[in-house]
Amino acid sequence: MPVVRGKEIEVLYSASAIAQRNLELAKEIAARDYRDLLVVSILKGSFIFAADLIRAMHDAGISPEVEFMMVSSYGAGTVSGDVKVLRDIDNDVNGRDILLIDDILESGKTLKFTRDLMLSRGANSVSVAVLLDKHSRRQASVEADHVGFECPDYFVVGYGMDVAHAFRELPFVGVVKGDA
Ligand code: IMP
Ligand code: MG
Repeated sequence: MPVVRGKEIEVLYSASAIAQRNLELAKEIAARDYRDLLVVSILKGSFIFAADLIRAMHDAGISPEVEFMMVSSYGAGTVSGDVKVLRDIDNDVNGRDILLIDDILESGKTLKFTRDLMLSRGANSVSVAVLLDKHSRRQASVEADHVGFECPDYFVVGYGMDVAHAFRELPFVGVVKGDA
């Protein structure tokens, strides 16, 4: 088991499993009829997934525009609360196809809020790609169109995801097991 910052991390999804899945997701996305595609990566947690997925999309023949939006959902704790826009996109979304990319779909509050915001701005369509879906935790009515993995109800870290700002740099997704 890898040990990082003195903690054992149990690997749930390895770097190679994620890379393989990203290629499949990119093919799924390429098979859809998206025109004038604008990818919106939801910071911070999705930055590594988005970086890998858009390069896999390139290999699948898609050339999207890419933007970033920072929204807060968790605050300091780990209970999803109200969603706020901390940094908005610069682009006009009117009439465009939007692909929202996030790390995890959990309660769904973040993605429902963001999807509804894009629709209210006149987006032609809004699709959602997430690396992980914690389906058992859903509260808001929102589903992802493209899901990397169905994730058990563990608090996961790595591949962009953090606990208290740590572990984003891990190339895999794992669960912190405690002191090594
Ligand atoms: P939702 O609004 O409850 O769907 O929250 C989704 C957001 O919460 C994700 O974009 C993540 O940033 C964060 N999140 C949810 N579960 C985890 C986890 O297990 N580890 C790290 N971040 C998480
Ligand atoms: Mg997030």
